[in-house]
Amino acid sequence: MIGPVQPADAGRLKSCCAAVYQGDFAQLLLGDSFHPGGMKLTERLGILLELGPATRVLDVASGKGESAIFLTQRFGCEVVGIDFGTENVAEASRRATSAGVAHLATFAQGDAEQIDYPDASFDAVICECAFCTFPNKRRAATEFVRVLRPSGRAGLSDLTRSGPLPSELEGLLAWVSCIADARPEDEYVGYLDAAGLRGAQIERHSQALAEIVRDIQGKLLGAELMVKLQGLNLPGVDLDQAKAMARAAADAVRAGLLGYSLITAWRA
Ligand SMILES: C[S@@+](CC[C@H](N)C(=O)[O-])C[C@H]1O[C@@H](n2cnc3c(N)ncnc32)[C@H](O)[C@@H]1O
Repeated sequence: MIGPVQPADAGRLKSCCAAVYQGDFAQLLLGDSFHPGGMKLTERLGILLELGPATRVLDVASGKGESAIFLTQRFGCEVVGIDFGTENVAEASRRATSAGVAHLATFAQGDAEQIDYPDASFDAVICECAFCTFPNKRRAATEFVRVLRPSGRAGLSDLTRSGPLPSELEGLLAWVSCIADARPEDEYVGYLDAAGLRGAQIERHSQALAEIVRDIQGKLLGAELMVKLQGLNLPGVDLDQAKAMARAAADAVRAGLLGYSLITAWRA
């Protein structure tokens, strides 16, 4: 873990994270879904959380709405997505309309650490590949529990780490890439438990992380070729740094230092 985050840094981290995932480069590298395993792992999370037509779900850090829209189509549930980035929210709302599910999937700007919905207003909360980026994880977990009705359920899918990371995987870019502040599974469970969630179950899906890192490495090479051969302009992108980070991430996944897990728990 990087040293303690000060309140001023916390605001900058959230804005930076939202800006990165609203940008064209994230779309180029990741497509529409910004987490390992794509809709396959989102479906798995929905099954573990027993989503169905009568369920009202909060998707915290909903990105461009891919998961929320998928969940409405697959399980018939209602999903409210919140994301720090206003452009993500606008894009997610547009996509829900084109998918014909705007009556079930709605989106609003919001902060995971200060959720703008009343107590006990959701049956389930999901948070995919974003909890690791929240500067105040304890507060976010407490907010998840507050908005959950009694015996409601929460599901995280997130990067995990099992030891110190090399220097290429520290710093701001690694933080917003969900790596630098990834925690061991038992720390995530500790946050959920301290907030009042019980019966945590963990499923490991580190293969999905290995696949997305490999995919990103391929796309970075493609981007480099386009920059060299076709003069593609990627403002603000340091391709060498991104490649070094992706290489170090691939090594860390191979060494078992970084992984990816689904963690579900129930409100006591
Ligand atoms: C790795 S992306 C994951 C997006 C989405 N869950 C998915 O799997 O496609 C991280 C997302 O977290 C959002 N985010 C970062 N900090 C946030 C916060 N404090 N509250 C709400 N959203 C936040 C970013 O804007 C970004 O869309």
